[in-house]
Amino acid sequence: MPGISRRDLLCSGLALSASSLVAKSAWGRSAAMIEGSPESGSAEALAAVAPREQLLFDFGWKFLFGNGTDPAKDLGFGYGQGDFAKTGDFRFAKVGYDDSKWRKLDLPHDWAVELPFVWDDEQKSHGYKPLGRRYPETSVGWYRREFEIPAADQGRRIWVEFDGAFRDVLLFVNGCFIGRNDNGYAPFRFDLTDFLAVGAKNCITARVDASFGDGWFYEGAGIYRHVWLTKTDPLHLGKWESTVRSAVNGSSTTLTLDTVVENQGKQAETARVSWKILDAEGKTVATAEAPAQQIAEDGSAPFTATARLANPALWSVDQPNLYTAIATVTAGGAARDAERVSFGVRTARFDANKGFLLNGKPLKIQGTCNHQDHAGVGAAVPDRLQWFRLGVLRSMGCNAVRTSHNAPTPEWVDACDRMGMMMMCETRQMSSSPEGLAQLEAMVKRYRNSPSIILWSIGNEEGQLQTRMAEQGAKIGATMVRCCHELDPTRVVSAAVNGDNEQGVSDALDIIGFNYNLKDPDGFHKEHPTRPIYGSETSSAITTRGEYTTDPLRNTLSAYDVNQPGWGETAEEWWKFYGTREWEAGGFAWTGFDYRGEPTPYGWPSISSQFGIVDTCGYPKDNFYYYRAWWGKEPSLHLFPHWNFEGREGDEIPIWVHSNLDEVELLVNGKSLGKQTVPHLGHVEWKARYEPGAIEARGYKGGKVVLTQKRETTGPAAVIRLTADRTEINADGEDLAILKVEALDKEGRAVPTANELISFKVSGEGALIGVGNGDPNCQESDKAPRRSLFNGLAQVILQASKTAGTIQVEARSRGGLASAQLTITTKAVEPRPAVA
Ligand code: GAL
Repeated sequence: MPGISRRDLLCSGLALSASSLVAKSAWGRSAAMIEGSPESGSAEALAAVAPREQLLFDFGWKFLFGNGTDPAKDLGFGYGQGDFAKTGDFRFAKVGYDDSKWRKLDLPHDWAVELPFVWDDEQKSHGYKPLGRRYPETSVGWYRREFEIPAADQGRRIWVEFDGAFRDVLLFVNGCFIGRNDNGYAPFRFDLTDFLAVGAKNCITARVDASFGDGWFYEGAGIYRHVWLTKTDPLHLGKWESTVRSAVNGSSTTLTLDTVVENQGKQAETARVSWKILDAEGKTVATAEAPAQQIAEDGSAPFTATARLANPALWSVDQPNLYTAIATVTAGGAARDAERVSFGVRTARFDANKGFLLNGKPLKIQGTCNHQDHAGVGAAVPDRLQWFRLGVLRSMGCNAVRTSHNAPTPEWVDACDRMGMMMMCETRQMSSSPEGLAQLEAMVKRYRNSPSIILWSIGNEEGQLQTRMAEQGAKIGATMVRCCHELDPTRVVSAAVNGDNEQGVSDALDIIGFNYNLKDPDGFHKEHPTRPIYGSETSSAITTRGEYTTDPLRNTLSAYDVNQPGWGETAEEWWKFYGTREWEAGGFAWTGFDYRGEPTPYGWPSISSQFGIVDTCGYPKDNFYYYRAWWGKEPSLHLFPHWNFEGREGDEIPIWVHSNLDEVELLVNGKSLGKQTVPHLGHVEWKARYEPGAIEARGYKGGKVVLTQKRETTGPAAVIRLTADRTEINADGEDLAILKVEALDKEGRAVPTANELISFKVSGEGALIGVGNGDPNCQESDKAPRRSLFNGLAQVILQASKTAGTIQVEARSRGGLASAQLTITTKAVEPRPAVA
């Protein structure tokens, strides 16, 4: 998406707290401010360099449900047994096949999020969606697209590249079967050159089968990441072979530049590779060239060179400085292929005594684990939303994310690089089988230039490889670790291990990850004083946004930090442990965002998890402010609950404050309940009998009030309010405006208990692509133009068309709230190059 500006990034950090700043902070910048971010995002990083072309293949697809068991309902695929008898006979994949009844759509697309919920406990972990072999009607989808290959492409190599699809893809082009991909997360590609008609129309068809799952969480279904058509000269750079490695030595850094050139042409070629290193402003700061080599027809050759950078701007979480290396292959006096590699210069080291060190300085990993789905869109997350999600995490002081339990999409990694968010990048299958290693290799090769990645994870909680099959576990682990080291000698390798870390896979790991388990790390550290340790997965605290009682009849969990499953810890418990041991590198809380599936501890009608520190829309739960207080750099004060407990007059209500100030005083209806000292990494709490009015917290630092916050009993909801994260977006067919929907009382105060159904009318140059409200028990459609508020909030996601203009939104309620209007401007931009 072109043109994500620094301002956009600031907007994506939420205007979260109602705290009023009494005195200007001397503690530095807001955690939501992302200094040093470049002015543009993913599009720049991923854009091709001429003469290579990389075309977005997302627009203009046709879709039809197939069937997992009945060939008659699956385009006749699987009748008899002759499907693969001949090459070129698949009629549904030929130009002109009648797809007029198929649905038109653009990618990324997740059909699971469009399906209704089913009360089938077998589907609980996947979010009660009718997917799997018992749901053949909704588990297979066909995608079809006809497209031109211009005559000018004669002689070029042409690939179709999928960033990921769920899950089993059979690909056909011009009637021919091309290949298969059998996992839900790794990128894959096929060389189509021999199958394409140049100067003519072509057809690509994918049968995507989501009957088998990969995980125990919501995974989506369909082509839920971008697809690309990439065209190169027959003499070209190998896929993901270009690497930039930096050796920092005082003020000067040596870059080692490597790549592989492949010759798919009809004669040997003498090729040379040159590199240009650009700084963030696009200025050339170094160049390098590798000696020419002859590459035989159908051969390949590695090229290497070094360059020096004097006083490089290091990549860090506060200053995510990036460089770009442009590698160009020349032969016969012409540039034949080129590519852009975004990289950062930094050192990242784990130490058994000092924890984690970035650029030589200890830095605690203040991390969260995250799945990849969001309200309204499921797993088909547009690029802009990746930035939004990271902005939310960043604004609570989170400095690292773990991509549990699978390889992420490139835009997430790119956004981490650009925002200064560190990453633990995890593969799906912990296995040294060909498939397991292929997934691992694709991940490591794809992302090894990203400075945000500080460690690889070969998997999560494979209990049998730690215990019953510990011997095999050690061998599988060793093979996977060796594979990572070979592909990327610059990073350490770990795994997220629950239970026994003394054997099995753990034997092979460079650094030891503990999932939960606050009992063993101290002993392990003593026993193994040279092995670095961190919390690969922690907490699993469970809370419902805006709920202040745990009610099994309503499937709610109080938002006070008091609930966790048997294996977990509250936010305060785990951070008091990891935050106070110098040798602990830090850890990753389960989870940053709520996600679909794995409802815990309740089942139906809960359809999503409650582990999130923020809900599925990104709206903070109260624990968010615990982390913001102890992870952020700003003074922070958060008072809760709200003060709208109609019908509970006289009841004793716990009142908590999360703050990093010295002391907090609480006032209830103007009367002080006294000051309390805030314990390090703790919180303060009082109890007060409820009567309508107001509660107020006053936060003191050095004896002075620096922050105050008030919660007032509001009147009933009277008017809807719509606010957009950005009111001007790009007319590129991809960009988003993310709207917050609230209900205000007559005095303009947000009503924290409002649950009205709100309808949305969207017109103009954009469309509503999803709605949500963060309620783990809400089974309303994510795709309908309406949504109930949940405890005062809902979210609407709008996507721009490719025509500049405006998008008008009107929000109405049947319950008599005054409606609200909002206009988003969509501005003309050059859209990304796309397949015509
Ligand atoms: C962990 C697991 C996660 C999630 C979590 C819930 O054991 O690794 O994927 O299931 O429990 O607490």
